[in-house]
Amino acid sequence: MNAIETINLKKSYNGNQIALSDTSFSIKQGEIFGFLGSNGAGKTTTVRLLNGILEPSGGNASVMGMDITKNQVEIHKLCGVMTETALMYENLSGIENLNFFGRLHGMSEAAIRERSFVLLEYLELTDAKNKKVKAYSTGMKRRLSIARALLHSPKVLFLDEPTSGLDPEAAMNVTKMIKQLSVEQGVTVFLCTHQLKYAEEICTLYGFIHKGRMLGMGTFDELLKQRNSKRYVEIRGESLPDIKSSELTHEGKIRITIQSDDDVTRILQDILSRGGKVYEARQVKWNLEDLYFSFQKGENL
Ligand SMILES: Nc1ncnc2c1ncn2[C@@H]1O[C@H](COP(=O)(O)OP(=O)(O)OP(=O)(O)O)[C@@H](O)[C@H]1O
Ligand SMILES: [Mg+2]
Repeated sequence: MNAIETINLKKSYNGNQIALSDTSFSIKQGEIFGFLGSNGAGKTTTVRLLNGILEPSGGNASVMGMDITKNQVEIHKLCGVMTETALMYENLSGIENLNFFGRLHGMSEAAIRERSFVLLEYLELTDAKNKKVKAYSTGMKRRLSIARALLHSPKVLFLDEPTSGLDPEAAMNVTKMIKQLSVEQGVTVFLCTHQLKYAEEICTLYGFIHKGRMLGMGTFDELLKQRNSKRYVEIRGESLPDIKSSELTHEGKIRITIQSDDDVTRILQDILSRGGKVYEARQVKWNLEDLYFSFQKGENL
């Protein structure tokens, strides 16, 4: 079963401006999906639609097989959400907030206690758990909102910029936790972010969105194929022989287009057998940023 499926999902806030136009995609269970797009692309709108916070203007979607327009209560039970502005009760302590949200989810007191203990420990909030949230730093508030999203052990986790405002150590812990949830417990993660390097490190599937339209969706390799992206090998050396369709880079290296890893061996053997000297050989592949901008540029043509 797909964890998330949208069919021509559409949203217009005021009747004419389209925030999300006919969007169809599916995400299998256990994927870490990176939903990437510039400001105003429609990411948060999609998250709100999938959680039943907004009504679609057209099309439909399901989360864990449940219709988003009909099963909001069940979907809330299965999903954990950390939005851009996760609201907490500022005059309550961290642990009181978790107690409150745990009860909303119908969890028993014992279950809330046990789960809060683990999450607060993991997110390094144990010492601050009795402090009022208004005395928390930005990073502490964000970590508490991650704890809140995970409290009821959701099957699908929606995270809007989960590591923004976190120091590198806390960000690393959160990243580790997201990977663990996906690999060990099959939790599906729907992650909105602008940080392409971060997405590349953690995601198994990507969706590019621009002005409410999906530009591309797939695994990294699938998206590379869709753009016919090239791979090169760059070689620095001396007495390098002429090689067919090679070009010289501004650093004085020769750059040759390759189709596979084996081509590198063949090229090096050829150079060496013709008396060339190789000091450095490096494959240059597209990274997520190259891929993202290639899809964005395609859109602007
Ligand atoms: N409540 C609202 N009323 C009217 N228009 C809205 C509302 N919320 C969002 N929009 C519009 O919908 C479009 C998509 O916004 P959305 O918040 O989904 O973008 P986003 O991809 O999350 O952007 P960001 O990266 O800045 O968070 C934007 O043009 C935005 O102005
Ligand atoms: Mg947003």
